Amino acid sequence: MAIPSFQIATIKGDGIGIDVTDATLAVIDAAQSRVGGFSLRYRQILAGAGYYQETGLDIEAEGEEMAGAADAIFLGAIGLPSVRYENGTEISPHLRLRDRFQLYAGIRPIKAYPNIPQKLSDDRAAAIDMIILRESTEGLFYSAAVHDRCPVETDDEVQDTLRITRKTTEKLHDFAFNMARKRKEKGSRGIVTCVDKANVFKSMAFFRKIFDERSRAFPDIEKGYNYVDAQALDLIRKPWDFDILVMENMFGDILSDLAGGLVGGMGMAACGEIGDNHGLFQPAHGTAPDIMGLDKANPLAAILSGSLMLDYLADKAGIQALSDAADVITDAIHSGFFQNAIRPAEFGGDMGTRAVTQEIIRQINS
Ligand code: IPM
Ligand code: MG
Repeated sequence: MAIPSFQIATIKGDGIGIDVTDATLAVIDAAQSRVGGFSLRYRQILAGAGYYQETGLDIEAEGEEMAGAADAIFLGAIGLPSVRYENGTEISPHLRLRDRFQLYAGIRPIKAYPNIPQKLSDDRAAAIDMIILRESTEGLFYSAAVHDRCPVETDDEVQDTLRITRKTTEKLHDFAFNMARKRKEKGSRGIVTCVDKANVFKSMAFFRKIFDERSRAFPDIEKGYNYVDAQALDLIRKPWDFDILVMENMFGDILSDLAGGLVGGMGMAACGEIGDNHGLFQPAHGTAPDIMGLDKANPLAAILSGSLMLDYLADKAGIQALSDAADVITDAIHSGFFQNAIRPAEFGGDMGTRAVTQEIIRQINS
């Protein structure tokens, strides 16, 4: 029987996006060699602020179609503050990819690894292990500049729209509850918290109503509620109490950075964006142009996103080897930190992008 093969569209993007993509593909290849049973083919797509500067296009012609034809998309990071569209916003074709492929489920894992300096002094911070599930196609990003959907846009006033639809929200909450079930099987607590602002906005009361409706099919999963402002407080006060937090797009954008800060910083902030037929994986951090090409970037957020991608492919294709390869990567990262053998410069350590990558590969092979 032929080994199943998957095509990955890679968009390295700008700044450190290039460094961390290279690191991730090297680690994925090591995990693939270790586990076997599948193969990956990569196809690079040019996109980003640098590409826009050169060509006037934010993604190459047919790039979106190529991304859509792949089994998964891996993206480094896109954007440079010095390069903007005519309307003043930054180059962000990936927002169009989220929209085009309806990647509604934005998974942002927040997990404390051993030996990373914790931002909270409480010992319980070592147990932080949660998922921020950020809806990624509508909410307040519905009228993001790249979509050109502002209802009012004059030189005296500009309005943006916060859109919540039943169709997307039902899928989002089902995704949250199903994920809670899976995590519960592996020992997590199985709690989904609906984070909203239902005390003030009709759209948010609607979001919560659908949460309640969908929760009925998951009686085994505990549910909770938090207003987003109180959630920001609780993420500092008792982040170890949470398992899955489900929320609107903009709230998720903000709280995922806050939560990432609790467990080290954006260098640990992985992200998977999943729709019914497509998945895009990228670190949640930006392009950090100040350290690009200096071998200083922490590649872990990207590498962890690569592991999420393998898990996604495993589910999609029903192939255990892919899920094993995903675990090989996260286990290598865990043991590397545990042995204090992974010491990223981001946390004051002595290891740059390449050294961290090499150590993870060494752990995978050992
Ligand atoms: C993220 C980023 C993006 C977003 C930017 C770069 C467009 O902040 O993935 O969180 O706002 O979604
Ligand atoms: Mg963000």
